[in-house]
Amino acid sequence: MPDPLEFAIATAREAGQILCRQYDKHHSVQSKSSDIDIVTEADIASEQLIVDAIRQEFPSHRILSEEGLGTLDALVAGAAPVWLVDPLDGTVNYAHGFPLWGVSLALAESGRVRTAVTFDPLRDEIYWAQAGEGAWRNGTRLQVSGAEDLRQALVATGFAYKRATLTDNNLAEFSAVMPGVQGVRRGGSAVLDLAYLAAGRLDGYWEMHLNPWDWAAGWLLVEEAGGRVTDLRGEPWALSSGDMVATNGTLHEELLARLARARRQH
Ligand code: IPD
Ligand code: CA
Ligand code: CA
Repeated sequence: MPDPLEFAIATAREAGQILCRQYDKHHSVQSKSSDIDIVTEADIASEQLIVDAIRQEFPSHRILSEEGLGTLDALVAGAAPVWLVDPLDGTVNYAHGFPLWGVSLALAESGRVRTAVTFDPLRDEIYWAQAGEGAWRNGTRLQVSGAEDLRQALVATGFAYKRATLTDNNLAEFSAVMPGVQGVRRGGSAVLDLAYLAAGRLDGYWEMHLNPWDWAAGWLLVEEAGGRVTDLRGEPWALSSGDMVATNGTLHEELLARLARARRQH
């Protein structure tokens, strides 16, 4: 059996090549849960490559992947190790030619992410982490930022595809955080938001209503870079969590408090 980290790095790079080859071409876009929730032929091709590779090299492992090639019961407690795969995160950006999207693979055992890889193909930046061994980008060890005050912080967030019908759609939280920070970015790729947080390019991040494959790799990257990751209530983040707050650690309580205040008032 190959080393999972080496395998995940090589496979994310191969998937990134597929995505780069198709990036400038016309995309056939199909809707999923709503008109704005889309999938392109590139998502499918990337997922096919990753899932085939996992099945070949780790036949006993389970797979949970966004476009449905994986099994839905993959996260059942006590099951075999599970790969969480987002074959293209930032699909809307990708379909518009907006250069912020990536590939993400994470390997979890007993509900804990052990190995994480996120690839940003356009910048040729590969991020990886192994539990207890730090977080890295292209051979450089990562450390979260040293920001001490939310007023000087650059934070990121996102909005779920279901936002048109959700009352809990993050707009109240966004309005509450925006005036008190240096900037809020809505980049459109949660996996890159978390990789950039681990790298110190962002100081904080929050989002709700995503899926485990959006967050799994980023959770380990941020933790291993010295940051802190919880849910909106401040409880340790888990693969079953429906929301996430991630920061450099120093800003965590302040960001949690601001979000909690916004949610109480909403
Ligand atoms: C999306 C991105 C985006 C987040 C969306 C996600 P996708 O993933 O991570 O940043 O705000 O809600 O669904 O669909 O591009 O893989
Ligand atoms: Ca995603
Ligand atoms: Ca995706």
